[in-house]
Amino acid sequence: MFQEIITDKNSLLIKELKLKSFDVFTNETYSKYLDRLDAEYDKDFSSFFQCFQSISEKNIVKAIDILEKSKNICINKYLRKFLEDFNYTFADTKPSIDIWSKTNAAKKEYAFICDVVFRRIIDYDIIPETIIDIGTGDGFLLDKLLSFFTSLKKNVNLILIDKDVNLLNETKTKINKKYPSIKSIQLIHNKIENIDIASLKFNRKTTVINAASVLHELQLHEKKQVISQLKDISSNIFISELESNHDLPDVQYSKLAYSVFKFYDGLILDTLYSANVSKVEKIEFINNYLIFELFHILTNKYENRINYHTTQSGWENVFNYLKWDFDSYVTKFEDYLPNFFTFHLKS
Ligand SMILES: C[S@@+](CC[C@H](N)C(=O)[O-])C[C@H]1O[C@@H](n2cnc3c(N)ncnc32)[C@H](O)[C@@H]1O
Repeated sequence: MFQEIITDKNSLLIKELKLKSFDVFTNETYSKYLDRLDAEYDKDFSSFFQCFQSISEKNIVKAIDILEKSKNICINKYLRKFLEDFNYTFADTKPSIDIWSKTNAAKKEYAFICDVVFRRIIDYDIIPETIIDIGTGDGFLLDKLLSFFTSLKKNVNLILIDKDVNLLNETKTKINKKYPSIKSIQLIHNKIENIDIASLKFNRKTTVINAASVLHELQLHEKKQVISQLKDISSNIFISELESNHDLPDVQYSKLAYSVFKFYDGLILDTLYSANVSKVEKIEFINNYLIFELFHILTNKYENRINYHTTQSGWENVFNYLKWDFDSYVTKFEDYLPNFFTFHLKS
């Protein structure tokens, strides 16, 4: 079973959530995790790291045993449950996206992106005629962006790109209904790195591209390739991402493990805190999405990792390398959450 997940990204295990075996924290227990001491945090990272060493030696019993003794940091508690009940598969994107958009972090993220995008569009006096949304997902963010864009110009062209065809179709239906003035909605069902971007011929000056929480799925060379091609079709691109350091070579495994530990621990806490997310959804999202992702990143080789979140300087190095002029907007919503940034690339 573990061999399968370690070596084959496409044949990922069987899906069955064991809801009963999880506790969701009550309000009182949250504070315990927020007040944790640095020393406890370091100790728990050490257990987390040893756990993955045991997994790499295919010694799952030992991995569970290590985590059993380490309960201060919530990520270790959930990882232990995940290993004990190990018969999961990665869910469709859809349920996870639906839950993500209800979390505190996502709500703050959407408000931040809109704030930056709207301000820049006004400051630079841009009247967008074509909007390209890469990694549209459930269209929750797109809806907020369109309410503003269509107030500037009603009959915009919309190009929606996503690797998930169901999400694309559902989002198109929602947007069609809510914004009947939109001139056309073109769907591109493909991975952005496989699209002939040059074929999207519009006026560069009036084409605005939004890529929120999607380009972290690309490896460094793909980030460069895609962002370089986008420069040919648009003079205003907004890229929004959470900060982490998962785009590291395999030899930097301990650094990668620390980055994964901090990133997912913060997102798990945020999920537990999110009042709009039901108990069942919390369990689904933490186990089937967050813990699965961290497990996947740390048990696969570089080219098969599930995501490649990178640092602010990692993104900025790519833009500098491609000679893009850009401005960076960075915020921290909570101490335990990763930094969040929106870059405005302009030319
Ligand atoms: C985390 S969601 C973000 C959705 C939306 N942009 C937002 O900010 O709420 C990522 C979306 O990107 C899509 N996606 C992931 N990798 C992709 C790729 N390489 N090319 C195109 N779409 C991709 C997923 O299917 C998913 O709908």
